[in-house]
Amino acid sequence: MYPRTRMTRGRRSDGLRRLAEETSVTSGKLILPVFVVPGRGVREAIKSMPGVERISVDILRKRAKTFKSGAVMLFGVPGEKAKDDAASAAFAEDGIVPLAVKALKKERPDIVVITDVCVCGYTSHGHCGILTKGGEIDNEATVNVLAGVAVAHARAGADMVAPSAMADGQVKGIRTALDGEAFERTAIMSYAAKFASSFYGPFREAAHSAPAFGDRRSYQLPCGNRREAIRDALLDEAEGADWLMVKPAMPYLDVLAELKGETRLPIAAYQVSGEYSMLKLAGKHGVLDEKRAVVESITAIRRAGADAIITYYAEELAGWVGEG
Ligand code: PBG
Repeated sequence: MYPRTRMTRGRRSDGLRRLAEETSVTSGKLILPVFVVPGRGVREAIKSMPGVERISVDILRKRAKTFKSGAVMLFGVPGEKAKDDAASAAFAEDGIVPLAVKALKKERPDIVVITDVCVCGYTSHGHCGILTKGGEIDNEATVNVLAGVAVAHARAGADMVAPSAMADGQVKGIRTALDGEAFERTAIMSYAAKFASSFYGPFREAAHSAPAFGDRRSYQLPCGNRREAIRDALLDEAEGADWLMVKPAMPYLDVLAELKGETRLPIAAYQVSGEYSMLKLAGKHGVLDEKRAVVESITAIRRAGADAIITYYAEELAGWVGEG
């Protein structure tokens, strides 16, 4: 008798291999991030992210007709003129994100609409919170603004809001505000384990959200701290989060796997802009087989414990996995 090793495995038929397959990727598990800008007919290329554009709401609506991803995550990019120190454009009822939510819901009620809740794209200084006179994050003021942003998004019809500002108590503040406005059914996906990462570089070009001074290390996690990430995530669960997120994805699969063992909430992983650009540029230069590398990366993120994956490859990938 052979031991059940590679020998026997090598003889498995495709059907047997499929039966034993532990991890699958389907379009319903993919969340497509979209950068929305004001105007009509606007399509702006993002140099550091080939294949990704900032688009206006009418273009989003047109594209949505054929979206294959199960969900969309919206980022508002309101333009320099709309920015101020209070991030007022972020919670305006007719702001760019509420308009995009309504358009999407009208066109494709079947797609889950998630909105990023942060102010870095709306503040003149580009930080993720409201600042004190001394230039520090004013946590309480920030949570209040984030709650207003979340309510504006919920009112427009968002299924889930995703606070990413890393303010203390933001999940609780948002949950309380949503419930107070009778949006008990609007879910919260918390960017629970969000590391201070160089892999966000291209996003800051995409969202025009690079901080004007300093960096985000005072409110994002140091990359070496796994236990702190788990602790933060569990605090967000206690505050009422419905989903937890780990971000970036590929360099933090250990965090994802450990968190999976610690929580019973569903977990999303964000394959961020820098991860996308690495794969895209390597593919463009013939250094990697892009399609295989992308499918492998997403399968690995699923294997590590992600229930859903936010990725700029969502639409392409949904096409590829649809083809088998
Ligand atoms: C900030 C935010 C960032 C990303 C999502 N939300 C940037 C940051 O924290 O600096 C990055 C996503 C990506 O890189 O694709 N609200």
